[in-house]
Amino acid sequence: MDRRQTVFEADARRDWEVCGCSLVCDENARVAAPGAHEPTPTPYFVLDELFLHVDFDKDSHLLDVGCGTGRVLAYVASRLPGRATGIELDGVLVARVRAWAQRYPRLDVRCGNVLDEPLAPYTHFYLFNPFDTEVLVKFLDKVEAEVMRPVTLIHMSDNGERYAYLGRPGWTLVQEGSIQGCRAEDGSLTPVYGCPQTWAIWTYVPSMRKNY
Ligand SMILES: C[S@@+](CC[C@H](N)C(=O)[O-])C[C@H]1O[C@@H](n2cnc3c(N)ncnc32)[C@H](O)[C@@H]1O
Repeated sequence: MDRRQTVFEADARRDWEVCGCSLVCDENARVAAPGAHEPTPTPYFVLDELFLHVDFDKDSHLLDVGCGTGRVLAYVASRLPGRATGIELDGVLVARVRAWAQRYPRLDVRCGNVLDEPLAPYTHFYLFNPFDTEVLVKFLDKVEAEVMRPVTLIHMSDNGERYAYLGRPGWTLVQEGSIQGCRAEDGSLTPVYGCPQTWAIWTYVPSMRKNY
């Protein structure tokens, strides 16, 4: 069997344990709007790695920007304290998330464009390649306009988009790395991506911007 397939099958089993269904999206060609990207879920091994570098406690509230079928919400429900909300353009995907997430009071899902969503309630934002750079720039402008306290932004697969953050007062790159596959306990790597996917964790501190 394709070793990559074993990673996806392990993810589907984890989905079933947490959600009672698979969160794999068979319609990867589905795109909700111009500028939006496909609803591919983040693999669990990627979330395991990224959240090692993030402080997330019972008072934290994550917004998954473009939540797709809700894999990140499932991760929070099963592995982290605190709350998670997903916002998703595609109403069919939102209905899928609502169907399984209603059993978790710490989760919420909203249907709409993140550019119309109030951002002040959140302490963390997660982006897995949700949209093109033009939308990303508008999203970062909106964070700066609405957020009143320090926030953390986790951006997976920011390949080529890093420059959208550069030169913005108040933003600090806390950690960065790249992931190409799933590493087993014996150190062996099962490649999942055709090329390394870069990730970055940023903080945005509004007071740093005001003092600029
Ligand atoms: C690559 S998927 C990420 C899925 C999920 N965040 C995860 O990591 O498992 C990107 C999703 O972002 C959604 N999306 C794109 N632009 C959006 C926007 N402006 N507002 C809300 N959702 C958006 C797409 O419809 C797609 O389902």
